[in-house]
Amino acid sequence: MTEFEGDIADSVSDASLARSVARSNEIERQLATDPGRFRVLTGDRPTGRLHIGHYFGSHANRVRLQEMGVEQFNLIADYQVIYDRDGVGEIRENVLNALADYVGMGIDPARTPIFTHSSIPALNQLMLPFLALTTDSELRRNPTVKDELANSDRPMSGLMLTFPVHQAADILFCKANLVPVGKDQLPHIELTRTIASRFDQRYGRATPEAPIFPFAEALLSDVPLLLGTDGTKMSKSKGNTIEIGMDADTTARLIRRAVTDSDRHITYEPEKRPEVSNLVQLAALCLDRTPESVAEELGDAGGGGLKKLVTEAVNEYFAPIRERRNEAIADPAQLWAILAEGNERATAVAEQTLSEVRQAMQMDY
Ligand code: TRP
Repeated sequence: MTEFEGDIADSVSDASLARSVARSNEIERQLATDPGRFRVLTGDRPTGRLHIGHYFGSHANRVRLQEMGVEQFNLIADYQVIYDRDGVGEIRENVLNALADYVGMGIDPARTPIFTHSSIPALNQLMLPFLALTTDSELRRNPTVKDELANSDRPMSGLMLTFPVHQAADILFCKANLVPVGKDQLPHIELTRTIASRFDQRYGRATPEAPIFPFAEALLSDVPLLLGTDGTKMSKSKGNTIEIGMDADTTARLIRRAVTDSDRHITYEPEKRPEVSNLVQLAALCLDRTPESVAEELGDAGGGGLKKLVTEAVNEYFAPIRERRNEAIADPAQLWAILAEGNERATAVAEQTLSEVRQAMQMDY
């Protein structure tokens, strides 16, 4: 993965973003030589199917880190499903499909435990002392919470208000010191550090030598955001996403319907030609080439030529992933066993951390 250069996020100051970018690039170099220094926490909300935007934006990087030998915990954040909706939706189906997606894309459950919030009581219990270390105004200042307050037409739940604290528990229960995120997530990592250091100041330690919780940092990625096949934000409700689990024919049909423009000459100009450039970008990601070289090769091939290339590239890239995924989903019992095993491992880690927390808080009766 190339180094992150990044433009400026609204929620973090230029200077602070620049520091995070520099530090993330330094970590990227350390990962190559000393992967054992890091433990990574990643996660997804199981609200729908994973699509190729998720894959290139996040999951491909998880597999890369796993293959570099970085220890990783992969959370299916089921308690995050209910912070902004009334019911759990198709939660079992979504969790099962997430498991199949992970296995298909190469997350190896033997190396990378996959677990669900609701199965790890000790993780959730960390919420209580952590909530005591966080103020209401800090939470209301969090950009995701602020955005929800400003733009949602539904009353904000207590879980929504406090979800940044829950995310801190996700990261800290397993003592992860590295979290792959986009720059909009930097405030969450900062709050995680605040909670960890306040815990140390107010409640102390299990042993005098070291704080219980690590200093968590962000690993930023510069993967461009993929848009949907209509050139707007990918969203299940718009039917513009290519899911990892779709078959080749469905993929071909979706790409055939994709929006392009009337200029037959293919270029990569994301600002001027978002729809065409997005398709060029997608082909480039699948072919591991630069979008510029893909556009140049296509030349005057027009929208049809572009779509043909994108279809072939996507279907070829995802063929082995889909094959493994199909095999996995055909055996749900095996997938549930993978989750049970991940939950067991995450529980052991969470209970160890919670026992240190109890000790520090003198609540180890
Ligand atoms: N909110 C993340 C998502 O929507 C998932 C997640 C839950 C997460 N807890 C986390 C990510 C902690 C990083 C750290 O995909």
